[in-house]
Amino acid sequence: MSTPAPAAPEVIGFIGLGMMGAPIAERLRAAGHSLVVHNRTRSKAEPLLAAGARWAFAPKDVGREATSKLVFTSLSDAKALDRVLFGRRGLAESLGPGALVVDLSTIAPAESRSVADRLGARGIHFVDGPLGGSVEAARNGRLLAFVGGSDEDVARARPFLASFARRVEHVGPVGAGTAMKLVNNLLTVTYVAAAAEALSLAEGLGLDRRRAIDLLLDGGGYSRLFEQKRIAFEERRYPAQFQLRLADKDLRLIAAAARSVGRDARIAREAERLLREGIRAGFGGDDFAAALEPALARRAHRPVDDPAPANEPNPVAPPPDPPSTPGDPAAGPNETPDLGPDPGPP
Ligand SMILES: NC(=O)c1ccc[n+]([C@@H]2O[C@H](COP(=O)([O-])OP(=O)(O)OC[C@H]3O[C@@H](n4cnc5c(N)ncnc54)[C@H](OP(=O)(O)O)[C@@H]3O)[C@@H](O)[C@H]2O)c1
Repeated sequence: MSTPAPAAPEVIGFIGLGMMGAPIAERLRAAGHSLVVHNRTRSKAEPLLAAGARWAFAPKDVGREATSKLVFTSLSDAKALDRVLFGRRGLAESLGPGALVVDLSTIAPAESRSVADRLGARGIHFVDGPLGGSVEAARNGRLLAFVGGSDEDVARARPFLASFARRVEHVGPVGAGTAMKLVNNLLTVTYVAAAAEALSLAEGLGLDRRRAIDLLLDGGGYSRLFEQKRIAFEERRYPAQFQLRLADKDLRLIAAAARSVGRDARIAREAERLLREGIRAGFGGDDFAAALEPALARRAHRPVDDPAPANEPNPVAPPPDPPSTPGDPAAGPNETPDLGPDPGPP
């Protein structure tokens, strides 16, 4: 009597092989899962393809070839997610009732709920699972997953999430994961902005930056994040782990989310001003530790691309108060008593 052939392993879909998606997909592959992958830029998929993953030409093909009917997405923002799911040859075209999409991107809670509703109309389930931690944590399986969705859907996603996250926390229904992620990033991004400002002040006061960093890391201002950014701050080199433009996107989402529930996110909005100056100065694709650059440039109350002359007046002397009115666009970037209306989400 012949023994039945072993069942082929179920294939998981993965779309979005950027700085986070690529190492996460690799963790899934290394854990023994068969993958079918797609990325807008194919070259980023090559290492995974060389390791045995299958390539799909479009998101729709991922849905067709993912026999598990489980697909992960890791994309820049809600616009990219919308395109991947509902655009031409989008994933939603090939997934049917009972399929599950797990989105790891940082988007707004309202955007997560809207996507879940649109997929739900086709019987497709959705879980939002944005991540705490960065590229290194993704490589090492040490991420923190903030998960929103139904009990059943989260239970289905959990073992896969556990292959790249040290902690998988089901925080509530769809949208709760992205809500928790925004709360998390309010703290992490404003922390880096505040650290940049602290180092700018240290420089203005004539202190050695490296020594100041060393002392700050031994004092009450210590954080693991500061420790991770130590070399970037010391050397003023910012190879991207978490791009400044994505941190700026998160601050905009935070401001909009706060506004939608009548809460104040003034500190986040001020940090956003600093990051915007960094983007204008060309640091958008660098790590968000590059917030140090506009912070250093601010000491002379000039834009970052307009370096101060050598005979700069003593930066310790307070500048005269500008004659700004609330929301006055002529007011300097760090001299705005009223921050004016929030920019909307991207
Ligand atoms: N990096 C971090 O430390 C970190 C940590 C936690 C959360 N996050 C969040 O995780 C998500 C991914 O971050 P990341 O650092 O991996 O960003 P990334 O390296 O810029 O990757 C973004 C991904 O989105 C794709 N994409 C962008 N626009 C698209 C479009 N219009 N259509 C199709 N695909 C599109 C990109 O494709 P291409 O390769 O073709 O550009 C790429 O695969 C973001 O929401 C970010 O906020 C990042």
